[in-house]
Amino acid sequence: MKRRVTKAVFPVAGLGTRFLPATKSIPKEMMTLVDRPLIQYAIDEARAAGITDFIFVTARGKSALEDYFDHAPELEGALRRVGKTELLEMLRATNMDSGAIAYVRQNRPLGLGHAVWCARRLIGNEPFAVILTDDVIAAETPCLEQMVDAYAEIGGGNMVAAMEVAPARASAYGVLAIDKDMGSLVAVRGMVEKPAPGTAPSNLAVIGRYILTPRVLNNLTRMKQGAGGEIQLTDAIAEEIERGEPVWGFRFRGQRFDCGSKAGFLQATVAFGLAREDLHDELRRYLHTVVALQKAAE
Ligand code: UTP
Repeated sequence: MKRRVTKAVFPVAGLGTRFLPATKSIPKEMMTLVDRPLIQYAIDEARAAGITDFIFVTARGKSALEDYFDHAPELEGALRRVGKTELLEMLRATNMDSGAIAYVRQNRPLGLGHAVWCARRLIGNEPFAVILTDDVIAAETPCLEQMVDAYAEIGGGNMVAAMEVAPARASAYGVLAIDKDMGSLVAVRGMVEKPAPGTAPSNLAVIGRYILTPRVLNNLTRMKQGAGGEIQLTDAIAEEIERGEPVWGFRFRGQRFDCGSKAGFLQATVAFGLAREDLHDELRRYLHTVVALQKAAE
């Protein structure tokens, strides 16, 4: 049976320690790539995939995220008065319909699995998507849309976005043990979160896009601590494999940026800046100059 995926969970309750001191008062998800916060990229991707219900798992200090999706009457009024219609349109695109977003709190940052579990009452008995805003994916067809289409074809089970990583980097990810490799789809026979160096079952890593069945939420209820003492989503998905339920890795088409790390965030800023018509020429000239100066200094 083909099932539509209409709900997406955005776990945004992490501490964001890698971006301190900025994240002392700014949620990581509000940091801007060019001129849009990370969360906007995630929401746009979800909308393109047909998501209609957006569930945010938030925490203390994240209220800027809630305000971001509200109407801004004073600002809109001011732009209207001076005839800045383009800006007004851009601003309106950030508004969400009343009731489309729900917020639940994760009281303590016990891990990604725990964050997703916090949304259980809003998910109900249907497959749902999870989007990690740290993973920004530049793609012709947005990543989650590719996954929802593939999921409709296979008709059920669990699906995780997957990408080849350098073997030396595998221990930073959830890694898939491959049963059958069919190209864009991979049948998974096991999953390990942050394997010790040299023990990864493959170099196919899980990236922050998932389509999961509600059974994964049941598995999370047991609150088993995994790698790093955290309640890991990977472990709860892996339990489904042990039960004989299918888990698929999906090799998406696109370029992923790890915006949870400083180097990844800077790379994404350059790539998204270069992709913008209004910034491309100036940024390119600047990058050329920087490279030339570096070379001259060497
Ligand atoms: P990260 O592992 O990147 O952790 O979480 P973090 O706290 O955001 O950042 P660092 O490592 O301290 O810099 C991956 C995703 O899971 C969410 C985060 O918000 C992020 O989107 N998360 C993580 C939660 O919502 N709750 C948690 O308890 C842990």
